[in-house]
Amino acid sequence: MLNFELYNPTNYVFGKDQTAKLADLVPKNTKILLAYGGGSIFKNGVYDQVKAALTGVEIIEFGGIEPNPRYETLMKAVEIIRRENIGFILAVGGGSVIDGVKFISAAVKFDGNPMDILHKRLLIKDITQVIPFGTVLTLPATGSEMNSGAVITINETQEKLSFGGSALFPRFSICDPTVIESLPKRQIQNGIVDAFTHVMEQYLTYPTDALLQDRLAESILQTLVEIGPGVAENPTDYKLASNFMWCATMALNGLIQKGVPTDWATHMIGHELTALYEIDHARTLAIIGPNLYRVMFDTKKEKLAQYGERVFNVQGNSIEEKAQKAIEKTEAFFHKMGMLTRLSENTEQYEGTADFIVKRFEERGWVAMGEQQNITPEKVREIVEMSY
Ligand code: NZQ
Ligand code: ZN
Repeated sequence: MLNFELYNPTNYVFGKDQTAKLADLVPKNTKILLAYGGGSIFKNGVYDQVKAALTGVEIIEFGGIEPNPRYETLMKAVEIIRRENIGFILAVGGGSVIDGVKFISAAVKFDGNPMDILHKRLLIKDITQVIPFGTVLTLPATGSEMNSGAVITINETQEKLSFGGSALFPRFSICDPTVIESLPKRQIQNGIVDAFTHVMEQYLTYPTDALLQDRLAESILQTLVEIGPGVAENPTDYKLASNFMWCATMALNGLIQKGVPTDWATHMIGHELTALYEIDHARTLAIIGPNLYRVMFDTKKEKLAQYGERVFNVQGNSIEEKAQKAIEKTEAFFHKMGMLTRLSENTEQYEGTADFIVKRFEERGWVAMGEQQNITPEKVREIVEMSY
């Protein structure tokens, strides 16, 4: 097992009716920016719950944070916070609102051009240099409610870039599984597939001696396979909803990546597809993931075989046969979750995508991705072309 430090200061508040606890969780005598997205919170009652819990608190509202949050929009909130002397931010929404708030939090006191946070992928570690924030999660998927990472899109350059740092954990996150009742089916499907792929990025590498991490990862995958199709059909089923929400958090709150190698190349390539074609984040992962496993088969086959056996009960006479079946099972699961796994099924204009992505990665110096740094530009090209 590799050496590790486990640090996660987020106060995770889970369950029905927990939004009422907001009054005790936010700092006293502090002006708050309530940040939200396109307005779903007004239709499903979440806004009303938040307002009821924060009666008497001085609040300024900032709406309009887009799915795949935009730098240009977030900078408007940065200006408001500077002008209005706001001391705390409350993100009410899904991964996009929470990620957006992480950027806002880091940018307000940033000494320099805030775009550098993204372009230079700065690590934000100094807790005194950020605006503290909490979240009310409305969409289980990203794990952003309990991690310190974020992904922001710059409109001007069509770039989708990640950043983060230990100062950017939410102070608290309220996670009430009943919020998914109002989610469109498409978003529930996305959430399951995003969480599933988060686990895969931290698990599907090569065999290590991290026995517990493997089994933690497999248990999350098994649970998602068990509940995924059902929760998309029956979002009011609390057993399914609560397990979904907890799985999505556990998939990316840092725990399962401790002491093991990680990949993340599916995400890096997927972000380009969202930046170029605005394909939903999870859907890009369903397009790229299985083909990445095919192209990187030789380095991943042992773990693929273990995953196939333990998660899908596949059988076979060789590592290769089991690994092959595991990829097929993965793709079949994604189809069951409503994913269209070819790029051409998600966008009409896809010619030249591989050239574009390879050039961009080379310009950024991303020439050795994956757990063994062997996902080279040639491999990226092969993966993307295989996904057309
Ligand atoms: O904007 P509103 O009106 O709120 O509507 C949203 C949005 O249209 C809607 N929605 C959210 N909760 C709802 C709801 N509609 C009805 N009822 C509810 N309870 O759903 C739509 C999608 O929301 P969004 O926040 O964009 O989805 P998600 O949570 O999947 O977040 C995706 C973003 O997170 C990033 C992705 O790249 C993408 O930008 N990620 C963040 C990560 C992290 N911070 O660790 C890791 C992930 O890998 C991912 O990259
Ligand atoms: Zn993701």
